[in-house]
Amino acid sequence: MSEPLPDQAARDRFRDGWDRNFAVSANAGSGKTTAISERLAALALREGGAEQLRKTAVVTFARKAAAQIGQRARAVLARRLAEAGRTDLAPLDHLERAFFGTIHSFCLLLAQRHGQALGLNLNPAVIEGADMEEALWEEFLEQDAMQFAALAPAQIEAFLRHAPLDSIFGLARDLDRGTAARLRSAGPAATPPEPSGAALSMILAAKSQGKGAESLKHNQEQAEEWRRRFRAERGFLPLPKPQGTAANIGELYAAYLAPVKAWLADAGAALAGELALRYRAWRFDRGVQTYADQVEAALAVLQDAVTLERIRAEGWRVVLDEAQDTDPQQFAVLVEITRPPGAPLGTWPAGRGAGPRPGHFCMVGDGQQSIYSSRADVRNFQKHLEAFARGEGGERLTFDVTFRAPQAVIGLLNATLPAAFGPGREHNRGLPPADGAAGPRLQVDYEPLAAGPRNEPGAVAVLPVAPAAPRTKVEARLAAEVRQVAAWKESQ
Ligand SMILES: Nc1ncnc2c1ncn2[C@@H]1O[C@H](COP(=O)(O)OP(=O)(O)OP(=O)(O)O)[C@@H](O)[C@H]1O
Ligand SMILES: [Mg+2]
Repeated sequence: MSEPLPDQAARDRFRDGWDRNFAVSANAGSGKTTAISERLAALALREGGAEQLRKTAVVTFARKAAAQIGQRARAVLARRLAEAGRTDLAPLDHLERAFFGTIHSFCLLLAQRHGQALGLNLNPAVIEGADMEEALWEEFLEQDAMQFAALAPAQIEAFLRHAPLDSIFGLARDLDRGTAARLRSAGPAATPPEPSGAALSMILAAKSQGKGAESLKHNQEQAEEWRRRFRAERGFLPLPKPQGTAANIGELYAAYLAPVKAWLADAGAALAGELALRYRAWRFDRGVQTYADQVEAALAVLQDAVTLERIRAEGWRVVLDEAQDTDPQQFAVLVEITRPPGAPLGTWPAGRGAGPRPGHFCMVGDGQQSIYSSRADVRNFQKHLEAFARGEGGERLTFDVTFRAPQAVIGLLNATLPAAFGPGREHNRGLPPADGAAGPRLQVDYEPLAAGPRNEPGAVAVLPVAPAAPRTKVEARLAAEVRQVAAWKESQ
């Protein structure tokens, strides 16, 4: 570590800028978690550091990563103590005072310390992991009477004509309270509209030759028959699917059914919202909390103005690792407690209100390591980064050097990934918000990597692997590939 790095100044700043906030967005293996450890170690060695560490929360999304940061920080501090020839272990003691854990567990701590006056459950049984959440959900479904008040009985009947009730379960299970309440009260139009008459005319007028003609005829009859039954009957009538692709039938059917589908989506969302709220109330009654509930409980604490100011006055400092995995509600908790007294909730970074107090909020992350999902939308991480880049709330730093990848690999990635992640690739775009509109770009810009001074040279090669015969079993396919790679390695 003795050779200076081209980006050493940024690393030093992150370590020693006590009274500043930093946001680092940098590639895998660029030393982000190490930088956090260095900052904490330096704090532990500094006069007055003990007091600050007592109110420092070092958090990340996943439990394993949270445990690792604590270990890394201790290791770095032990090294720094040895380098300085110090034998007193007080700084290690100081470091132990900091909170190391998941964002969820930090939220639980906030709710436990401050939620009593607000009637929150202070000792919930925490539902951990996908299996336990699934079991809890199943248990809820089993005892729920499936009676709904969000829609009129005739609307429920209309919905169930075309979709089974369990089609709303997936949505209902994961809705947060705010969204559930919004969907429940939005509701659909009084009655479902008919399928599009204009699109039906186009289906009936469509022409196709050869093999497609037969399918088209079936699709035309089916569409017409479906509308007849929609009008005249009341029994179960699932949405029809076209056969084949002749005459662009997929698009025509989509246009034909669009009004009905839109109504079903609104009706299903209202039912899902109601079920989600009931699931929430049931969890509350039983004294159990999911991870999302823990964050919600902390947010509820912060909604109370007096409690919010009390927490802010405690002077928390937040250090967030893997910030790209943090969802908007989690960000809100971590940011709000570090903002200055009186700052109105929800006004940073969105409303350009005062950001976190200097020295009270640092985050590191890598947009490229985020998997786009509705939970931790990478654009949310980027919004916070952009605020730092504008100088609002703190300073944005970049680390260019990566220590993990061999030099040849870095060369290959820099040469190929800018295009792969670039705006020119169709698969980097999401669904357009409206017909004819451009889909949102769901990819982050590729940041070029630089090799550290001690990275191995490495090598890059294209392996001439012959594909297995069709219908070869996975194990056999894998074994054939591995043998070819081994043969190639031996030939080198
Ligand atoms: N300044 C440095 N000089 C030399 N090696 C370093 C430096 N900082 C970190 N490393 C080494 O680089 C490797 C990656 O570090 P680290 O885990 O901190 O990266 P990261 O950016 O947090 O990675 P990830 O993106 O996976 O979270 C580790 O082996 C670490 O010891
Ligand atoms: Mg890391």
